[in-house]
Amino acid sequence: MSNHDEHSSFIKTPQQLVVIVLLAFVVPVIAIVLLVQIVVKRPHADPGAMTPEAIAGRIAPVGRIEVGAAGAAAGGAPRSGEDVVKQYCAACHQTGAAGAHKIGDKAAWGKVAKAGLEAMLKNATQGKGAMPPRGGAADLSDYELARAIVFMANQSGASLKEPAAPSK
Ligand code: HEC
Repeated sequence: MSNHDEHSSFIKTPQQLVVIVLLAFVVPVIAIVLLVQIVVKRPHADPGAMTPEAIAGRIAPVGRIEVGAAGAAAGGAPRSGEDVVKQYCAACHQTGAAGAHKIGDKAAWGKVAKAGLEAMLKNATQGKGAMPPRGGAADLSDYELARAIVFMANQSGASLKEPAAPSK
């Protein structure tokens, strides 16, 4: 019976046994709970991030140009005389190219303005000499064309009244 001690455990009392048994259950359970939490709480890739819209949003260019969006033809408000002139008429009338009445040239504009807006509008609509009909901007309404003429004439010493907006 001398080797009895070799088999003796460090558990000497029933209380120790109870503690060991409890720990044997509790420690693995806590470990599993922690593991599960790590897996569940791991940040996932957002599934919405891979939709075509989301991708297009991320790779969208920084700026965007809307061509013709401001036009009356596109259903927008009529463009102002200044806008129309800048966009279409300045090409010739800013520099006086091809004999166009230069913006700011009071003598040249004074002559045509004397004939009145109606006459100028008619010539601008049909075209005259080197000037193409409507200055080449076929989508301009008469109202927009008239405002552009008034703008240019008034920049050149005339004091024409803006035409009334057409009633729709
Ligand atoms: C391609 C060049 C060109 C463009 C673009 C142009 N014009 Fe002209 N415009 C002319 C020339 C050239 C004349 C002189 C015509 C002449 O008297 O022989 C003229 C003359 C005019 C006149 C005087 C007409 C008259 O009664 O004798 C008006 C008004 C006018 N342009 C308005 C406009 C407006 C408004 C625009 C823009 C929508 C415009 N033009 C765009 C070349 C241009």
